[in-house]
Amino acid sequence: MKNITLRTLSKIKQNGDKFACLTAYDSSFAQVVSDAEIEVILVGDSLGMVLQGKSSTVPVTMDDMVYHTRCVAQSRPKSLLISDMPFMSYRTDELAMENATRLMQAGAEVIKLEKSGHIVPTIQRLNDYGIPTCAHIGLAPQQVHKLGGYRVQGREQEQADLMKQEALDLQQAGADLLLIELIPATLAAEICTLVDIPVIGIGAGPDTDGQILVLHDMLGVTPHTPPKFVKNFMPEASSIQQAIELYGQAVRSGRFPAIEHCF
Ligand code: KIV
Repeated sequence: MKNITLRTLSKIKQNGDKFACLTAYDSSFAQVVSDAEIEVILVGDSLGMVLQGKSSTVPVTMDDMVYHTRCVAQSRPKSLLISDMPFMSYRTDELAMENATRLMQAGAEVIKLEKSGHIVPTIQRLNDYGIPTCAHIGLAPQQVHKLGGYRVQGREQEQADLMKQEALDLQQAGADLLLIELIPATLAAEICTLVDIPVIGIGAGPDTDGQILVLHDMLGVTPHTPPKFVKNFMPEASSIQQAIELYGQAVRSGRFPAIEHCF
């Protein structure tokens, strides 16, 4: 696999093809994921749950994210490297600029921000300074306590219309990628055709340009019962690398997610 860039993902979308994404939090797994030709690695704040054993991503700090981004970048993956901005790390424009700079200097190539009231102007400001961004809409796990749980978003028409407008506003502000989590498959398909930028889905049906899963979930090492949209690829494989390759093939061929993984 050649080095993957934002341009590579745009071309994949233009050609009507699909790409695969996985989380990784350390150098060894990042190497395996890159060798398995997964196009995107996300250093997700899900590390709070899968590495630190916390019950949500809320306690994850900027220092945690910088440390794990540096660990992943150390392996020089060919996959595009996205890193999460953790809870409250972009609550002002100044903080967003400062913390995005820390992640980029640790090796991130794109930074991801979950939706909040201020995300559109923040994305605009980061874009003005040449910092590539991925806007995370639909379910925002950092707002789990406000939402009262990890619930499917956008089921009602009004909420769905707002989400479509939000996607357009984020694209207009300069977001390079969208990530949509836990929404009905039909709404995800509409958003994907509405915007020109590549859209990554998780629990959002088969029609997004890319799919992402938490690495530990697709390797079947999640301590809790995994959500409905997860598939464990280990039972079909004889090694971790092969399970990851099978996941990539299933995404690119449209076999994952299947109907049982969708809302
Ligand atoms: O933190 C994370 O791993 C994520 C994915 C679930 C998309 O944001």
